[in-house]
Amino acid sequence: MVYLLIFNIVLTLYKRKKYLKESVDFAGGNFLKEKVIINGAKKLYGEVKIGGAKNAVLKHMAAALLLKDSCLIHNVPRLTDVETMIDLLASLGAKIEYDLNNNSILIDSANLSNNVANYEHVSKMRASFNVLGALIGRCKEAKVALPGGCAIGERKVNLHIKGLEALGAKIKIENGYVLASANKLTGADVYLDIPSVGATENIMLASVLAEGSTRIQNAAQEPEIADLANFLNSMGADIIGAGTSEIIINGVSHKDLHPCSYSTIPDRIEAGTYMAAIVATRGHGIIKNVFPTQLTAVTSKLTEMGANVNILDPFSLEISCNSTPKAVNIVTQPYPGFPTDLQSPLMSVLTTAKGVSIITESLYENRFMQVAELRRMGADVQQDGTHAIINGVKKLTGAQVKASDLRAGASLLVAALSANGTTSVSSLHHIDRGYEIFEKKLKDLGASIERVIDDSLPVSKPVNTINLEV
Ligand code: EPU
Repeated sequence: MVYLLIFNIVLTLYKRKKYLKESVDFAGGNFLKEKVIINGAKKLYGEVKIGGAKNAVLKHMAAALLLKDSCLIHNVPRLTDVETMIDLLASLGAKIEYDLNNNSILIDSANLSNNVANYEHVSKMRASFNVLGALIGRCKEAKVALPGGCAIGERKVNLHIKGLEALGAKIKIENGYVLASANKLTGADVYLDIPSVGATENIMLASVLAEGSTRIQNAAQEPEIADLANFLNSMGADIIGAGTSEIIINGVSHKDLHPCSYSTIPDRIEAGTYMAAIVATRGHGIIKNVFPTQLTAVTSKLTEMGANVNILDPFSLEISCNSTPKAVNIVTQPYPGFPTDLQSPLMSVLTTAKGVSIITESLYENRFMQVAELRRMGADVQQDGTHAIINGVKKLTGAQVKASDLRAGASLLVAALSANGTTSVSSLHHIDRGYEIFEKKLKDLGASIERVIDDSLPVSKPVNTINLEV
């Protein structure tokens, strides 16, 4: 028995070490010294398979804390954010096995040892704050570091707190932490002033084991919300209406929850980024493992720009563009509006469109971090508050540029792929957070892209930097 226990511990440690090594190899590592060199102006052509949705899987992993048992999650993307969530869950006492070959994660939360999500994790990745709802639901007490603002905006959590208080949680903010406690949580009506994704998720998570029913009005309607509800229902929760603006969570008890096996939806933002790259290079590609109906706002804009988008079946689409795109105006909005996460990749396409485009960013105060870098590549973009005015130029030219956050980084890749000459994109750790094996996927589409170490870049590992969060 003791030998078996020791064997299991050694095996788990070995698997964890192997996972970390392989995932770092796969993501290419996340050191600041790395950059990609792209020789642009090559049409992308071929097929690309999209991975699981980052912003869904991270919430499933947090939700696994509600279950005093194991759950198996499939279609898990190979991202450094997934690693960060693994570390956080492990720090809370969950046991995790990651099967890299099958893109699945087994999370066993039977015995949690801790209900504190420390600043080290939350400052690395904002989605860590989602453990708050699960921990208060499961343990009736939780201490979770406040995320604070980040590179793209202020990103308050007042609605998360308002929702948890409505369920009966007592919340104190002390020394940068949210201290939440409740003798019991009771279902309530919660109206969200704005349809916040994170607040909807945290309230949903806390309501699963509350007494009675909770109704979230003006809830976020993003596909990742419906996916979280489906995941929770697969473990025995009782949630209806997710994906609409009103969600009802009928509380269940611990004994109603059971082990589950669930496959995460495809990443619509990764898919949209590859669509942008194909259009930017005037290429032709097939996007596989995508739900085209979740990208309607994006396909509609790309079509308006002159791209041809053809939905092949419920899981794949074809996209091509063989002439100079037309200028369009884009306003980012909560789902089903145009996603803020695809604003910057589309901006890169519009830098060489015919005419003047205006992008209005209505979710974040500071999400035009790509603009200054795109200008270095010859783009003509003026920023005026929440508007960016893009005057299409004939061609971008290669330059040395630096990613400031995940989606700004993605936009630089798109711009580099379309630009004449050579571009180097540094600060890849931002991009590795949300785009799995992106050099391989782009190479398979015919791009000339290499990840290299640049000894002239700083050596330090990017941890605990507030600008890292998305
Ligand atoms: N907001 C408040 N109060 C709150 C919560 C939000 O004022 O209590 C504001 C925020 O300041 C922000 C806006 O509402 O200006 C939208 O925030 P929301 O809560 O909807 O977003 P989130 O949950 O923080 C998720 C994604 C983001 C994505 C947004 C919108 C994750 C981990 N992140 O963030 O993804 O942009 O929804 O769709 O799910 C990314 O992947 O690059 C990324 C930033």
